[in-house]
Parts: sequence; C-alpha cells; structure tokens
Amino acid sequence: MEKDEKITNLKQELESDIKKISNQQELQHLKVKYLGKKGLITELTSNMKELTPEERKQLGQIVNELKNYAITLIETKQQEIETRILNEKLEKETIDISLPSKKNIRGSRHPFNRIVEDVEDFFVSMGYDVVDGPELETDENCFQRLNVPLGHPARDSQDTFYIDEEYLLRTQTSSVQARTMKKNSEKTPIRMICPGKVYRRDDDATHSHQFGQVEGLVIDKNISLADLKGTLELFAKKMLGENTKVRFRPSFFPFTEPSVEVDVSCFKCSGKGCPLCKQTGWIEVLGAGMVHPNVLRMGGYDPEVWTGFAFGTGLDRFAMFRYAIPDIRYLYTNDIRFLEQFDRKDEENEIK
Ligand code: PHE
Repeated sequence: MEKDEKITNLKQELESDIKKISNQQELQHLKVKYLGKKGLITELTSNMKELTPEERKQLGQIVNELKNYAITLIETKQQEIETRILNEKLEKETIDISLPSKKNIRGSRHPFNRIVEDVEDFFVSMGYDVVDGPELETDENCFQRLNVPLGHPARDSQDTFYIDEEYLLRTQTSSVQARTMKKNSEKTPIRMICPGKVYRRDDDATHSHQFGQVEGLVIDKNISLADLKGTLELFAKKMLGENTKVRFRPSFFPFTEPSVEVDVSCFKCSGKGCPLCKQTGWIEVLGAGMVHPNVLRMGGYDPEVWTGFAFGTGLDRFAMFRYAIPDIRYLYTNDIRFLEQFDRKDEENEIK
C-alpha cells in the first residue's frame, strides 16, 4: 500500500514538474531527476533484492509503466518546445516582399566570338576542318615556309614581337598553312580554316597590336581561282548580307600566285558611296590567291599534281562592321559598358 501511494505521488510530482518546464535545459534536468541512474523512478527498484520473486515481478511492472509514462511525457514536451522555437523563428523571419530583388547580371557572347562562331559555322557546313595553331610561332612557319625568306622586304609590313632569333608572335594565321601541310604526312587533300590571334606592331583606332584573323586553305587536284571566287562570294554574303557583291583586284602576297585583294560592296550604302567606304562603294576585306608552287613544294605537295587556294581575313573588322564599333580597341579592353550593349536577345536581330 505504502508503495502504491509512493508511486501515485511520484506520478503526480512528475506531472506537475513537467508543466513548469519551458526550455530544453530544464527538460534535461527533469529527465535526470526521474530517469537518471539515481533518478526517482530508478530508485524505486533499489530494494528489489529484499522482495519475493512475486513482489519483484509486480514492482518491476509498475515501475516500467511509470518509466514509459515519463518517457512519453518528456517526448511530448520536447516536441512542444521544438515547435515553439520554430514558430518563434518563423515569426521573426518575415519576408519583406516590397524589397527590390537582387539583380542577376547575365553575361553575353563577346561580339568578336560571335563573328568567329559564324565563320566556323559557315566553313564547317562546307566541309572544312577548324584547326588551331600556336601564337608563339617559329620564323620558319610564319615566313620561310610561306616563301618569305630572311631579309625579304614583305617582312617589313608585318613587324612584330620577336622572342629570339627563332621565335616570334605570329603576324598572320598563314603560319598554320605551313603547319597543316607539314603535318599532313599522307599528303591528302586539305580543307581547313584557322581562326586565331595575330600580333603586329600597330596601334591606332583601326589597328591593334593584337587582332584576329581567319586563315583558309584548300589543297586538292584541279582547284582553280573560280573555286576561290565562289567560296568567298558565299562567305561574304553569309557575313554581310545576301546582297553583298564581291570584287577581286590583283595584288601581291609572297605565298600566293596569282594574288588578289578582295573587296565587298559597301553594306552601309549598298555601293552608292558613303564615309564608311570612303565614297568608293567598296570595302577591302580579304587577301587571297592560289597557293604558290614554292609553298606547296615546301609543304611536301608536288605543284604539278596539286593546286590550292588560300585566304586570310581580319575578324575584328567584321565585328566592327556588323556592330558599328568605331574603335578596334573596344574589342580588347573589356570595358563592361561596351560589353553590356551586346545583350543576348539582340542576337536574333542581327543582320546575317
Ligand atoms: N596573311 C595575309 C595577311 O595577313 C593574308 C593572306 C592569307 C593572303 C592567305 C593570301 C592568302 O595579310
């Protein structure tokens, strides 16, 4: 009887204690007070040894029930406390929907790269490979294998940055012509373009010490000037619009014979004459010609069997034309105010 009373009191004490609990720490203390090693519930079994097996069984059952009851109460309280903490937190963290959101700054493709990608798309669709070559080039590839021996006056117009006697920053992507021919050990037909950076000692509004070129080289049997003309005509239309006309003028490059300078009809005035084309109606965009027999020979191709054409054009100028960029240096100084103007959504409206 005395035991029963003790248990009932303990139960009541536990119930009133738990009501007073308001935080995790207090709950932890309560847990120790009742269920700890020396806790009040645990203690009930301290004199088990003195009891008969029957009494022991009975007491064990009662204590277990009480223990489970205590655990349930504690767990419920624990959840209560957690919910309260969460609610308090949520209440404090109200979101002010009137605040302006953070702006996501979205990048866009650089105008120069847009041109490169268009050029690549066009030539890949015609079956060309896109190849790469180093910007730090040998004098041999940049000049000698292109029929420009040491001391040749054609070097003057391409003054550049020499690293030592042998190496220089390439002045023209034509160096990749020499590389491609040499590399093609089977001496099979070649159809390649190579877009890339080149360097010259220039610096004004339309000339930068660094600029982009794309080289083209085709070598096969029975390639003629007509193939070159047809290819460049299609290329000019793709880059500057369907109505573009192309004009060939005789010119000189040491690595092509015959050589031509290629003009396109002015896309601004359609050939009538304007400041952009200096009232001529034409704009010079390209150098080209039939691959010189010496160049073929140095590249391991027999000029009696093989013929080919090559062309080289400045990529920056196409970007300047298409986007009406007045100074080539804007393309290289990475001024965000300039680059921001080439938003992606404008791409759909480009003249192509
Ligand atoms: N490499 C020449 C230049 O930079 C262009 C060119 C390339 C001319 C291929 C003819 C053939 O001016």
